[in-house]
Amino acid sequence: MRVTAILLAAGQGTRMKSDLPKVLHPIAGKPMIWHALNAIAQSTTEKPIVVVGHGAQEVTKYLGDSAQTVLQEPQLGTGHAVMQAESVLKDRTDLVVVCYSDMPLLRGETLQNLVETQKKNRGPISMLTVHAEDPRGFGRIIRKRDGTVEAIVEEYVATPDQLLVRELNVGGYCFDANWLWDALHRIPKNPKKGEYYLTDTVELASKDDLPVQATVMDDIEETIGINTRVHLAEVEAAMRRRINETHMLNGVTMIDPASTYVEIGVSIGRDTVLMPNTYIHGKTEIGEGNVVGPNTIIRDTRIGNHCKVLASVTEGATLEDHVDIGPFARLRKGAYLGNHVHMGNFGEVKDSHLADGVKMGHFSYIGNAQIGANTNIGAGTITCNYDGEKKHNTEIGEDVFIGSDTMLVAPLKIGSGARTGAGAIVTKNVAEDMLVVGMPARAIKKLERKVKGK
Ligand code: UD1
Ligand code: MG
Repeated sequence: MRVTAILLAAGQGTRMKSDLPKVLHPIAGKPMIWHALNAIAQSTTEKPIVVVGHGAQEVTKYLGDSAQTVLQEPQLGTGHAVMQAESVLKDRTDLVVVCYSDMPLLRGETLQNLVETQKKNRGPISMLTVHAEDPRGFGRIIRKRDGTVEAIVEEYVATPDQLLVRELNVGGYCFDANWLWDALHRIPKNPKKGEYYLTDTVELASKDDLPVQATVMDDIEETIGINTRVHLAEVEAAMRRRINETHMLNGVTMIDPASTYVEIGVSIGRDTVLMPNTYIHGKTEIGEGNVVGPNTIIRDTRIGNHCKVLASVTEGATLEDHVDIGPFARLRKGAYLGNHVHMGNFGEVKDSHLADGVKMGHFSYIGNAQIGANTNIGAGTITCNYDGEKKHNTEIGEDVFIGSDTMLVAPLKIGSGARTGAGAIVTKNVAEDMLVVGMPARAIKKLERKVKGK
């Protein structure tokens, strides 16, 4: 059976007060609409249709070919929005799932249940409802004696009795496609707002004595819709809890999950410990038995096993096993740290390959360099890789000892086993096992001592 989703995303999201279309606001590192599409993918068989309107260009660009878009212009309500997909979908699907793009906590399993309910329903609609004390402006569910749904009454037209109803319309539906296309044209125009409400299809079905089934959701959290940035933060926190719980159940320790921020798509091995105030973004893979944080930002980085990353920032980097960095280390794109590399405080590495056992304990900048195994980079060493126009390469062999405060003026090669004296400014290649020193301080003149207060 062909099941296709229509995701409604044309609304303005006025209350977000943002230049960014509402559905592109990120949650756990992915746009709101990504989460909706992710849930949809688990319950449908065909490519989804996204109805766009406000911010159509940006949303369409983001979607690429993950979905087909149809434009709703002007926006005349949720029923009108679904109608825009009719010409694309007619005769191409058996069931239509409709949901709203601002409910990123809705789970794929919930939509799967919904689709299963509709498959067994001899009527044309199944829908999601929830019992909640706070009605949040949601439509109220009116049931018939036999338990099927008679109508959805929007809050602003509800009678005082109807307002007391605590079963609410979540905004997830599964329709029999053929029935839906016809029913959409029978939706009456709302006299107050001049719009066409999808929710009115329920009444159309029940008046024809066709049963509308409701699946009651037990997790209220899933139904949180986003209208303001207050809701956005609520959802972010809920999503964070969800992600963190998954990692913890897989064997990751989090000292304080509330202050541990792991984006969707990050993988973390067992017995890794995440300390508080740690942010893990993008395409990051972390192996087993590591300690990461506190106060650390990791982005697009691969970390092997048994590493320590303390109060550091890494982006586009690779750490093999038993690597130890920080506090205050910074790895930029293309930084590769082999096994047992140690990088202490205030170091920066970019586009460089540090072979196994390299040590750089303090205050160094290494850019565009290849450093051989077990080489020691003394405090304050700098690869002077940029001449104002171009970047140049530095190649350092194995078991080299670079003395404190050495300036390595690239392009430069230093042979294995070589040593540089403290403060050396190295401008020419150094042969293997050679000791170079340079730039000793010279006496220039005698100074007059200034005494304070005179
Ligand atoms: C809707 C439901 C309400 C339900 C609530 C749950 C209707 C009439 N009411 O109300 O019963 O309890 O959601 O959150 O459906 N959209 C379009 N085009 C339009 C109008 C809306 O694409 O012309 C999209 C919006 O971008 C949004 C979704 O449809 O993603 C829902 O619209 P919204 O205005 O938020 O409806 P609610 O008033 O919240
Ligand atoms: Mg809404």
